Amino acid sequence: MDNVLPTRLLCLLVALSWCGCNRDAPRQLQPPPGPPTGVETVLVPEKLTSIESDEKDALGRPLRVPCATCHSLADARPMPSRPEQLQAFHRGLQFRHGELSCTSCHQADAPRSLHLATGQALPMTEVMTLCSQCHGPQARDYKAGAHGGMTGYWDLSRGGRTRNNCVSCHDPHTPKYAGAHPVMAPRPPLPHSEARAHE
Ligand code: HEC
Ligand code: HEC
Ligand code: HEC
Ligand code: HEC
Repeated sequence: MDNVLPTRLLCLLVALSWCGCNRDAPRQLQPPPGPPTGVETVLVPEKLTSIESDEKDALGRPLRVPCATCHSLADARPMPSRPEQLQAFHRGLQFRHGELSCTSCHQADAPRSLHLATGQALPMTEVMTLCSQCHGPQARDYKAGAHGGMTGYWDLSRGGRTRNNCVSCHDPHTPKYAGAHPVMAPRPPLPHSEARAHE
């Protein structure tokens, strides 16, 4: 008679587990993304191939002049070493980028193209390869999506995405991101008497 109670309890437990209260069963995993249908495009800002002029087009947008319009006329001159040496054009160029010299990026004898540390020439439009060579951590973060932002879809099976270029946000000559100052919140338009009460 002594061991009836434990036996009953055991039966009850077995019955319960058969009834299947399976709250702890793993949830169905989300299906993996399908094959990509969209593509990733990286912006190539216009400033890499042309500069803004004072003239406006019919829609009021500033007309842009391709670099080649002027630079294909004259023979390439050696790259200057300081911004003040630019007198005939591009005057007032600001430069604050570590201890770099102009020829850290521009090719000395072909100033309109860039070069990697190995000396390999690089067209202006591939400037990101150059930035990435010196800024590995940011380039890695950019690849992973944590730096640089984008519009579109991370999941390429849902559509394409457009990524910003490093020089969309950073001027290559003064790359420090121009910070934004916090401003006071706008004052709510209180009726006159109430506004007084808070003063
Ligand atoms: C309206 C004509 C014009 C346009 C457009 C123009 N440049 Fe220039 N650029 C000049 C002139 C003139 C100089 C020589 C300035 C000096 O030495 O005082 C110059 C100088 C330079 C230099 C210094 C080395 C050199 O060749 O003297 C670089 C680098 C340069 N330009 C790059 C560019 C790039 C990149 C673009 C397009 C994004 C561009 N320029 C667009 C007229 C132009
Ligand atoms: C970190 C790389 C880098 C360095 C260093 C650099 N440049 Fe540039 N430069 C660029 C890129 C990229 C462009 C393409 C246009 C742009 O984004 O402004 C450019 C464009 C230019 C232009 C064309 C006009 C303009 O403002 O875009 C001139 C002129 C110029 N650079 C002169 C210089 C001079 C002078 C120095 C040295 C004081 C220098 N650069 C140092 C990367 C560099
Ligand atoms: C040859 C190496 C080199 C290249 C190429 C280069 N940088 Fe730099 N960059 C530096 C150095 C060195 C500093 C200064 C780091 C410091 O002061 O701690 C710097 C600083 C910066 C900073 C921080 C600026 C600040 O004042 O806080 C930014 C942003 C930046 N670079 C962006 C770029 C971008 C965008 C490009 C491509 C157009 C680029 N860099 C290309 C070497 C390079
Ligand atoms: C959408 C705009 C955007 C793009 C695109 C972008 N950056 Fe930045 N970057 C920023 C901002 C914002 C900061 C942080 C500024 C701060 O904290 O003051 C920054 C900071 C940096 C710094 C300074 C170090 C740091 O982390 O504070 C470097 C170097 C840099 N970026 C390099 C790059 C390179 C290289 C690329 C291209 C692969 C790139 N950035 C693309 C916005 C951008």
